[in-house]
Amino acid sequence: MTELSRLILDRIRDVPDYPQPGVMFKDITPLLADPVAFAAVTRALAGLYEVDKIVGIEARGFILAAPVACQAGAGFVPVRKKGKLPAETLEASYDLEYGSAIIEVHRDAFIPGERVLIVDDVLATGGTARAAVELVREAGAEVVGLAVLMELAFLKGRERLTDVELHALVVV
Ligand code: PRP
Repeated sequence: MTELSRLILDRIRDVPDYPQPGVMFKDITPLLADPVAFAAVTRALAGLYEVDKIVGIEARGFILAAPVACQAGAGFVPVRKKGKLPAETLEASYDLEYGSAIIEVHRDAFIPGERVLIVDDVLATGGTARAAVELVREAGAEVVGLAVLMELAFLKGRERLTDVELHALVVV
């Protein structure tokens, strides 16, 4: 185990039965509250690629993606849940356990061909990340990678992202 993996794993709190019975929630707030760990995570994600834009996925993805963008010298682009972005958007839907959800990005968020890294906190079923990849591509940019703090391997999200370079700082 690397020092970074240990730093992360020691600061993610398992909360049972949240948001519903049977779900073990991965709470990243202890990690965010530790300036050394938060900075180490930001540095690791910012060092993966040279990109034009970092995309963050609402809401917990924003917390990581924004400092990564600053550190990487890239712009930040929010992918938001439907109805939150003010200008013209593109949208993509994805499945939830019950029903579906829609995320959006501004249609003019990228210059065509821009290199983009998508950042989120957790990869679970991969539905959110898959939809984000489709959105960025539809908006004319190149997805050079998808980076997450934590991959929940037992949910097999990676299998839905075989056409993307996926980086997880820790896999559980
Ligand atoms: C969580 C997490 C990822 C997504 C992963 O976000 O931050 O974006 O779920 O799940 P998936 O791989 O099964 O799609 P959530 O929708 O709970 O929103 P939040 O960040 O606003 O809490």
